[in-house]
Order: sequence, then structure tokens, then C-alpha cells
Amino acid sequence: MKVKKPRGTRDFPPDEIEDREYVEDSIEEVFRSHNYRRIQTPTFEHADLFQLKSGEEIAEHMYVFEDKSGRRLCLRPEATASVCRMYSEELRDSRLPLRLYYFCPMFRYERPQKGRYREFWHLGVELIGPKGPEADAEVISLAYDSLKKLGLEFTLEVGHIGILRGLMDDLGIEEKLQGRVIACIDKDDIEQLKEIVDEKAIFDLIGLKGMTGIIQKADELLRGHKKAREALSELKEVLGWLDYMNIEYALNLGIVRGLEYYTAVVFEVRVHGLGAQNQVCGGGRYDNLIELFSGLKIPAVGFAFGFDRVMNALELQEIKIPERRVDAVIAPVNASMREDALRIASSLRDGLIIDMDVMNRKLDKILQYAGDIHARYVLIVGSEDLKEEKATLRDLDTGKQEKIKITELKEKLREL
Ligand code: HAM
Repeated sequence: MKVKKPRGTRDFPPDEIEDREYVEDSIEEVFRSHNYRRIQTPTFEHADLFQLKSGEEIAEHMYVFEDKSGRRLCLRPEATASVCRMYSEELRDSRLPLRLYYFCPMFRYERPQKGRYREFWHLGVELIGPKGPEADAEVISLAYDSLKKLGLEFTLEVGHIGILRGLMDDLGIEEKLQGRVIACIDKDDIEQLKEIVDEKAIFDLIGLKGMTGIIQKADELLRGHKKAREALSELKEVLGWLDYMNIEYALNLGIVRGLEYYTAVVFEVRVHGLGAQNQVCGGGRYDNLIELFSGLKIPAVGFAFGFDRVMNALELQEIKIPERRVDAVIAPVNASMREDALRIASSLRDGLIIDMDVMNRKLDKILQYAGDIHARYVLIVGSEDLKEEKATLRDLDTGKQEKIKITELKEKLREL
């Protein structure tokens, strides 16, 4: 019987994993340098966790199943709700602010295509505790700096869901209808939106996008709308911090995000050229979610990179990831040299990648193998050299070789 992998999942061969590890490390270094610390939550959770406040969009696409005791569980579709649950179960006595990050697979039963998978990875952060604009700016700057460091070209779009909600409150639109309006905007279904509301101000607001003059237009549009104006001034404060941090952004007051828990600043990062799945990052402030699970009024803000889309963007923009190379393949010239070769291999491994022939191959075959795997050196271990406590190091890039004292090999390979 031939069994294939499930639709929407992928296998990752070593080359791809090494590229992914490089990118993961590069981004996590940015997180860690701001004192974010890694956590892990379970791969499956109670389905209710995500049905409470994550929104219809997520609930529709969840992998839900019953375990043998009849519990309704699901594979996690996102991690923010899990982190809030973890906060209330495990971390409620921690000093605030709590800076957390995670890198783990998420599962959504969506129609697979390039950039959209049923199993995909989130590399995300959650900053728990602070309420102010400085915290929003810190989180946005993490996303921005991480992508800049990788050399990517992208557009950061910033908005504030409180402006639209505030405007709808000011216009007397009831909460249930507000949810439907937001769902239409999220799906970009303007026709349906027109059927459920006919407030020109809403259409004007969600059309406010761009690099310049947007705040001024919003100021004019929202004149007399008290709640919306309050949210707008919150957004202005965040933008002030972003300007101070030299972060380039476009405003987009039509960002609503697919998840329901956002309450204030929201942002997305897009990479031009990735087609329909060009959003590589999404996040925002969610000040009521922790309260929902714990009763504690703790505000929070965060984002997640769609890690697979970041990888696709790097490929699209032809950004080279440094090649990982084997430093040396150890080649005993004959079977009687194998023990000595093994001893030398073990002595070299500290910080170096050393490959030892375990196929019992002849020297010419080992050389061929080392060339094929693109190793830097072959270390030939033979009895004549050994009498002088030496071995022969062949540089596979230049073809040159030299005899080197075994005690000096490690130093030599390190500096090369
Ligand atoms: P999200 O926008 O649903 O937000 O997901 C974050 C990112 O994951 C998206 O911007 C996208 O790049 C990527 N993504 C989503 N679905 C797929 C898919 N099927 N295949 C590949 N990549 C995908 C969240 O999940 C929030 N928890 C983010 C957050 C953290 N907000 C606050 N803290």
C-alpha cells in the first residue's frame, strides 16, 4: 500500500530545514535581544478555547475531533488564545511585563495553495501587561527589524480596529451587526457590505490607505465622532513612537484582521509579488482576551510571522541563505586505519562538522563522496603520516593538500 502525506502538509528535507533554522535563529535573536523568552503550548487544546473569541473564520477551519473520553479537542489553529490560557493557568503570578515568543506548527483546514498550507508555522511574540503606545511600537518594531535584518523588502501596514468600532458605536450600529460588517471587510466583500450598511463614513474610513495625508483625512472624516476620534488619537501616539524609531509604514484604516479578539492597534506586513498569500505577518492589541480566560484585566499585544511565507518571500527576492558546509570528511586509507581515523574525528568535533566514512569505502570513493556533499576538506589518515603524528588535509575547493600535525588540526580547520 502506498501512503502519501496528507493534503496541505509538507516534508522538509535537510537542506530546507537548515535554511529554515538559519532564518528562525536570525529572527529569534532579535526577539531574545529584547528579552523575549520562548514558551511552548500543547499542539491540541479544548476546541472551546478558540471558539470563544477567535472568530468565525478560525472556527470554520479548525481540525476538531473527539478523544476516547468524548472530549472535544482541536489542533491549535493559532497560539494567542493558547498563550492567554497558559498565562491564566501557569503565569499569573509572574512579574509584568511578560515577553514571550513561540515557534510551532498551526493547523487550519483551508484550501491549500502556494503560501497557504494546512500545517504551517507561526513564529510569534506576545507582550503581556503594558497598555501604552510604546509597547505597541516595541512589538511592531520587532516584526520590522526581524525582516529588515533578513534583507527583505516589504510593506508594513498599520491601522486601529478601535476607530472602525468607535465609528460604528458613534453611528449607533449594534454589536452583532458590527461583527458582520467586520467580517465583510475582512473578506473584502464590499457588495455584501453595501447590503448591510449604508453609512458613507464607514466606506470612506476603510478606504483610507497610504503613506501620506491619511491622518489628516481621518481627522476630517471623524469630526464629531467621539469614540472614533479617541481611537485615532491612540493610533497617532503609536505612530509617533514608530517615527521616533525610524520605522517606515503605510497607514491602512481598513485593516480589520480575521480574528475577533483585537481591540486597538492592528498591523500586517505584505510582500509584493507573493500573490494572494502575500501577508507574511499579522498582529495587534487584544486587551480583553486574558480577562476572558482568567477574569484578570491584563492587556496584551503581539503578532505572528507566517514563517512559511517569510521563507517564500526570501526565495522570491533571491536572498541567499549562507550555505552550511561539512568542515571535513575523515578518510582512512585502508581498514587498518579506521580506529585511528575515528579517534581523530572525535578529537575534532568540538564546534566543527566532521563526517566519518562508515561505508568502508576506498579512498577515491570517499573523495568523490566528499566532493558530492560539497565538504570543505578531506582528512586522509594513513600509516606513514601517523608515524610522524600527522595526517593529510586536502582542500576540495583548490585541490591542494598538505601534511599537518594532528595536534594542530583543530586550530587549522577553525581558522580556515
Ligand atoms: P493570523 O493573521 O491568523 O494571526 O496568522 C498570522 C500569519 O500566519 C498570517 O499573517 C500569515 O502570514 C500566516 N498564515 C495564516 N494562515 C496560513 C496558512 N494556512 N498557511 C500559511 N501561513 C498562514 C494570528 O494567528 C494571530 N495569533 C497573530 C497574533 C499574535 N496576534 C496577536 N498575537
